[in-house]
Amino acid sequence: MAVRPILEYPDPRLSTSSAPVTMFDAELQRLVDDLLETLYAAGGIGLSAPQIGDLRRVAVMDVSGEASAPQVYVNPEVQSRSAWGLVEESCLSVPGVVANVIRATKVRVRAQDPAGESFEREVEAMNAVCVQHELDHLNGKLFIDHLSPFRRWRIRSRLKAAARAADERRDVA
Ligand code: NI
Repeated sequence: MAVRPILEYPDPRLSTSSAPVTMFDAELQRLVDDLLETLYAAGGIGLSAPQIGDLRRVAVMDVSGEASAPQVYVNPEVQSRSAWGLVEESCLSVPGVVANVIRATKVRVRAQDPAGESFEREVEAMNAVCVQHELDHLNGKLFIDHLSPFRRWRIRSRLKAAARAADERRDVA
């Protein structure tokens, strides 16, 4: 297992659609282990494979807050969505940005486990929001893509200015 670097917006890999997993082998298990270790090291609740530069349809989640309830979704698909609401989201790949997004808070999801076994699960609240956020990542979509173009433009300008300031600090150091 290894903690891997998390890609940040606007890395083009974050806007690329990931490919379905067809090989359920030790290499896939290694990816799952790395995702969980990276998620826990970052203190997040969800992480998808493209966020560490691996374009396979794999995501991990743990909303327990104590690293005690890992969930693994391989090739996830949402079967149904209901109970829509406005929820506050952030993303490890878009540091420092928090925004409200309209999401279903009740979702039926079908996926496979790392051994290739299919399962269906009904998830609610934080789990439902997180699973949709991670599924978006697998489709090359970020939570800020749900916002208005103006709001997105403001976020992009702010992140660019922050990156420029960090570069300048490096130059004088
Ligand atoms: Ni995210």
